Amino acid sequence: MTIGRIERTEDDDIREALHEFPYGIYVIGTTRDGRPNAMIADWVMQISFSPRLLAVGFERDSSSLARVRDNGAFTVNLLNQEGNGMALARGFVQPADASKVKGRSDDAAAQQHDKLAGIAYQLSEREPGCPILDDALAYAECAAEQFVEAGDHVLVLGRVLYAEVLNSGEPLTSTFTGWSYSG
Ligand SMILES: Cc1cc2nc3c(=O)[nH]c(=O)nc-3n(C[C@H](O)[C@H](O)[C@H](O)COP(=O)(O)O)c2cc1C
Repeated sequence: MTIGRIERTEDDDIREALHEFPYGIYVIGTTRDGRPNAMIADWVMQISFSPRLLAVGFERDSSSLARVRDNGAFTVNLLNQEGNGMALARGFVQPADASKVKGRSDDAAAQQHDKLAGIAYQLSEREPGCPILDDALAYAECAAEQFVEAGDHVLVLGRVLYAEVLNSGEPLTSTFTGWSYSG
């Protein structure tokens, strides 16, 4: 189909359709060498009742995946629409390692971005202690059990060791933010 002079392809149709799929907005907490990190993610879902398993799709080059491969621990924080949820989410969109964003100068690429600076959080009790955000609606603490190669991502299956509702409210979703990490 041609709109104006722009030729639409089947790939555009597929991308547009997949953009319509809704997701929750989560912050994945990890820790390595005593340094906690937090990665915004929306490819998260429960995939088993017994045992309770959560699946998280990680970009292959995310520092968070490397941390989970190293020590097998991560938290899943579901963000809240209420309060400062949207502002909180915005603070997590930069990668920890600035070189991950293509086209940056050498100086800019060498920067490490501490996404947790100024954010209220605790560390989960089990070693190595991963971030639990005070303002999350709910969180789950997970132990990685399987790493499944999935195209350009790696699906990590995590056993839920503990989980808790922390605040009241409605979950932050991709429908609410209008951000799309899909297609
Ligand atoms: C709204 C949104 C959703 C995202 N969802 C995911 C996701 O599900 N999985 C993923 O690996 N990265 C996702 N990302 C990208 C990561 O947050 C990003 O690649 C980050 O650089 C990785 O952080 P890290 O290097 O600190 O681990 C998403 C980004 C945004 C803005």
